[in-house]
Amino acid sequence: MRLKTSSLLAALALAAISGLAAAQTVKIGIITTYSGPGSAQGDQLDKGFKLYLKLNAGKLPPGVKVEPVFRDDTGANADAAKRLAQELIAREKVQFLTGVVWTPNAAAIAPLTAEAKVPFVSANAAGVSIPRISPYFARVSFTLWQSAYPLGQWAAKKFKRAYTVVSDFSPGHEAEEAFTKGFKEAGGEIVGSARVPMTATDFVPYMQRVKDAKPEVIFAFNPAGKQATAQMKAYADLDLNKAGIKYIGTGDITTDEELQNMGDAALGVMTVHHYSAAADRSANKAFVAAYKKEYGEKLNPGFMVVGAWDAMEMIFHAIREQNGKIDPDRTMQLIKNYKNPNSPRGPIQIDPETRDIMQNEYLREVRKVGGQLANVELETLGTLLKDPWKEFNKPK
Ligand code: PHB
Repeated sequence: MRLKTSSLLAALALAAISGLAAAQTVKIGIITTYSGPGSAQGDQLDKGFKLYLKLNAGKLPPGVKVEPVFRDDTGANADAAKRLAQELIAREKVQFLTGVVWTPNAAAIAPLTAEAKVPFVSANAAGVSIPRISPYFARVSFTLWQSAYPLGQWAAKKFKRAYTVVSDFSPGHEAEEAFTKGFKEAGGEIVGSARVPMTATDFVPYMQRVKDAKPEVIFAFNPAGKQATAQMKAYADLDLNKAGIKYIGTGDITTDEELQNMGDAALGVMTVHHYSAAADRSANKAFVAAYKKEYGEKLNPGFMVVGAWDAMEMIFHAIREQNGKIDPDRTMQLIKNYKNPNSPRGPIQIDPETRDIMQNEYLREVRKVGGQLANVELETLGTLLKDPWKEFNKPK
């Protein structure tokens, strides 16, 4: 009898211990933009994370849960982002950081992730050199070199004289440099270039300068959101299309969530990008349907939604592989070897050498599909393309 009781107690104790061991909560710090002029972009990240978390809780091992901790960086604000990351690491003790629309913010956070050994997955911030700041940084979004460089090469086959108009911060400078290199190498000439302050809402003065210079084509990069629509409106209002000046750029300028607001001026605009809501891959169709079901039939997910979705998919993979017991170095190993053949954007993987995304880049044209403006993919310009900048600038 006595023996029975003690073995029962022992069994109960064992069950309690293993139960405790199995109950793991993984905290994920998510920094995005909920206020200020960049909140439209921040909302895209938020929607992507929340949709993923809602639909995929069942993909975690038994007893493992995630606890997302959301924070508002208020826009491109390096100091605010750094403070939030510090708080998430030191006080909240998050085991992952993700989110971050803006490159200056991600660049300010990156050194902290190296010190604290907290893996940081960029769901958007695209600044080309951020991965070199911290070995705990990886990116599932894109670099501007991935889209603008092949676009420059393609454009030089159609046009000889281009004018570049980019947002005046590092991703804009990188887009300008990448397009210029691709375009010039293939025989094109840059006849002028303008840099627009990040806070600008009126693009007319810049587009007027372009009109006066009479190029054949404008290459543009803006940080998506409302600025994409404002620049398209300036293109329309100044009748640049009628003046024979074609509008091309990275996919940010015709971002899917804003496209219906841009009007018919967007028809015929050509871009290069890794994601289009109109793509007919089955993984994308399921993704767009889930998005519409959650947020409304009229809304389309933009590329930032996919960035957030894929970031969380990669984090879930790392959590699953470790059964919820997160070791930062093991996590980075898993991330470096990460592959997903079935992202809504097509196949993706992380380049283990650079921790940057490899993905397809598609040439697209804005057309009407079923009465709606759509970024129709015409051609794949690069398959599982690495970041070209890192190929040209190998570490010494
Ligand atoms: C960035 O800050 O890295 C960024 C923001 C918006 C974009 C692209 C890049 O559309």
